[in-house]
Amino acid sequence: MEISLTKQFNVEKIRKDFPILARTVNNKPLIYFDNSATTQKPKIVIETLNKFFETHNANIHRGIHKLAEESTLLYEEAHKKVSDFINAEFEEVIFTKNTTESLNLLAYSLFNNLKENDEIIVSQMEHHSNFVPWQQLAKSKNFKLNFVKIDKEGNLDLDHLKQLLNKKTKIVSLVHISNVLGTINPVKEIAKIVHENNSLLIVDAAQSVPHMKIDVKDLDVDFLAFSGHKIYGPTGIGVLYGKKHLLKNMAPFLYGGDMIREVTFEYTNFNQLPWKFEAGTPQIAEAVALGSAIDYLNEIGPERIEEYEKYLTNYLYKKLSEQKDVKIYGSKNRSSLISFNISDLHPHDVASILDSEGIAIRAGHMCAMPLVREVLKEPAVCRVSLSFYNTKEEIDKFILALDKVRRTFKK
Ligand code: ALA
Repeated sequence: MEISLTKQFNVEKIRKDFPILARTVNNKPLIYFDNSATTQKPKIVIETLNKFFETHNANIHRGIHKLAEESTLLYEEAHKKVSDFINAEFEEVIFTKNTTESLNLLAYSLFNNLKENDEIIVSQMEHHSNFVPWQQLAKSKNFKLNFVKIDKEGNLDLDHLKQLLNKKTKIVSLVHISNVLGTINPVKEIAKIVHENNSLLIVDAAQSVPHMKIDVKDLDVDFLAFSGHKIYGPTGIGVLYGKKHLLKNMAPFLYGGDMIREVTFEYTNFNQLPWKFEAGTPQIAEAVALGSAIDYLNEIGPERIEEYEKYLTNYLYKKLSEQKDVKIYGSKNRSSLISFNISDLHPHDVASILDSEGIAIRAGHMCAMPLVREVLKEPAVCRVSLSFYNTKEEIDKFILALDKVRRTFKK
């Protein structure tokens, strides 16, 4: 079963699409296990970026010349590819800088719709992008910010969510997949619970869009945010999905060029969706290259990616659990990342010895300090986060390298 799946997936062929995977680090073949922080880029994405600047570069929605026409078309095509990828309408997808900007856009734009003493719910497993904007908003207008607890297994406590919801709850903003625990939250079920309370559901999908098929209509979320660089596209381009009727009634986040229809000395009429939320010259080349990343993922197939990554994660989980001095955080039902600690060793020491072996993992607070420090009660953790270009052999090398870590520090 294992062999046939690996063969069917042909990971060796896929790896050739990613030039960086051929390099060495500290004279060892690179093993890149930091995919939750950012993913590597396939050739097609790098080539699209270059080609855009070599052949089409011009500003969009402005010029009456050939290049402007071409870049506008390519930019709008990228919008369409992203909308189709998550099953949204064209008007419902806004390009931002990243997940963080998408969530800030919501916090600022929804600000005016909230009253003093309204309540917002996030969870204990949010990373800073889906926590700090709401915390600061709550402070500035005297909103109450509530936190859904997580149980010992690392799952969201849905009974606690139900207890927290009340008439004053206007917004519930939750992570789809935790970047620390790997927990996959049941978004569809959560959407039902939140909508029965007439609250809005925002989903931080930064760690889910790279690993599973996302259908915003099926999930019935009101808003969803993710980053291009985590789905094999360039940095500097993010996505915000919002239901059309909600976006229509929201104030713009940024004001300036392209988001207007008419400006006089007295007033401004805003542009139609989605441009109303895309002020100024956007990330044109990055958007076009994100479109290529989506073409690439579609060609492999999100369902096949999910299946192969699940197989790899189960293997990693099994191997790590066999290590007596390793503590794993979170439940077994997880997406393709595992956070852990080796007893008595600081995560930074672990990461730096692994780096000497060419293995890149992340060590630290994972941009989720409240979770790591106050819930897990750890100063830091180590994290391996996998992609469909990783292999079982890389996991074996990583497990062997842990012995070198022990030999170095446990004398
Ligand atoms: N939130 C990103 C991570 O988990 C940066 O690494």
